Amino acid sequence: MKVGIDLIHFATADYYLGLDTFAAEKGVDVNKYYVGIGQERMSIAPPDEDIVTLAAKAADPLFNHIERDKITAVLLATESGVDQSKSASAYLHGLLGLHKNCRLIELKHACYAGAAALQMAQGLVHANPNEKVLVIAADIAKYDVDSSGEATQGCGAAAMIIKRDPRLLTLEPGSGFYSDDVMDFWRPNYRETALVDGKYSTKVYLNSLRETWKHFTANTGRRYEDIDWFCYHLPFTKMAEKAHRQLTRLTGVELSDDELKTLLAPMQAYNRQLGNSYTASLFIGLASLLDNAPEDLTGQRIGLFSYGSGCVSEFFTGIVEPGYRDHLFTEDHRWQIDHRQPLDYADYLQLYHTQPEGLYEGQVVLPEYNRGRYRLKAIRDHKRLYERR
Ligand code: CAA
Repeated sequence: MKVGIDLIHFATADYYLGLDTFAAEKGVDVNKYYVGIGQERMSIAPPDEDIVTLAAKAADPLFNHIERDKITAVLLATESGVDQSKSASAYLHGLLGLHKNCRLIELKHACYAGAAALQMAQGLVHANPNEKVLVIAADIAKYDVDSSGEATQGCGAAAMIIKRDPRLLTLEPGSGFYSDDVMDFWRPNYRETALVDGKYSTKVYLNSLRETWKHFTANTGRRYEDIDWFCYHLPFTKMAEKAHRQLTRLTGVELSDDELKTLLAPMQAYNRQLGNSYTASLFIGLASLLDNAPEDLTGQRIGLFSYGSGCVSEFFTGIVEPGYRDHLFTEDHRWQIDHRQPLDYADYLQLYHTQPEGLYEGQVVLPEYNRGRYRLKAIRDHKRLYERR
């Protein structure tokens, strides 16, 4: 039985901060961002946008192509959770009007949880071929002002349907994985923003790739030459170039810098405009590859590398299905990216780094910034109230 990704759609916020604006504010050469880390813009979520509204926005259009009553589980991966107990998928279940015979779970392991959700979803479908699982990876990447991470913020959510006979990508059995207990990136419960040991985190990412790849080849017998396209977790798009160069060195493959850039560019295109979306970034990279590849990818093998700080990583593969282009959301993805509103630095600080009044008392009324179909309207008696417009 073939099991895999049947549909994929992503959503992001309505605002962005350009890294040109950011560079001017910080007095830094803009090429540090455009070239050095490979980022042009970062999506900024206003106070009435959170991972629930982003997830709802990502999932909503899928139901024009699949019956909502047939969804048997929602697996929502995030490291920007809104509650320590109630799962964000429960809010989502209500907002999307899903059937009551549906399981709701939130998963966490830094940026890896999206891949974990995908693996779990596959397991459910293999156990019962009638399962149709909604997997969503949704995150808002937030670091302290003036910290090294500030230039690598962003947000986004990727929603996928996992089922048998998928229309986009059949996931192949076998993968490689690797874990270690390290402190490269973390966010204690009392903090709004993440802490990161920036340079160390990139070293741990690259080491994890090396170890994961060795495990992948030992487990599956597949080699570099068997894979046509590569998708990487993208904290910033230059990371994929560092990662892929490491892989070519490890495998002894000769690839010029130009060839490497050409190979990775279709996968990097959207993330370059959105910034980091943690759990979602790998899957937004996959959507970007499917939407922007220079040729029909039918029958080609895609390798996907997920990395979650702390750390867990996994490398797995999938084969692109014939006719996949008829089931993409390319136009909508591009429209969203192009129709965000730019912020100046002062507005960005106001929207992004100011706590809404009354938050700790559990009484907040949120001004209307979010122009999407779903928004967080208020918090009353510590209960989050969402609206669908
Ligand atoms: N023109 C061109 N390139 C320039 C330049 C210019 N004018 N100025 C600087 N650069 C280059 C530098 O040479 C450097 O390139 P290399 O990495 O190839 O050496 C690059 O731009 C970045 O410059 P710095 O190293 O000086 O930048 P920085 O000190 O601000 O740190 C960073 C960069 C560590 C990535 C920082 O942005 C950060 O801490 N980000 C958050 C952590 C992160 O994203 N880690 C990734 C791995 S962890 C993970 O993947 C999980 C996750 O999602 C967080």
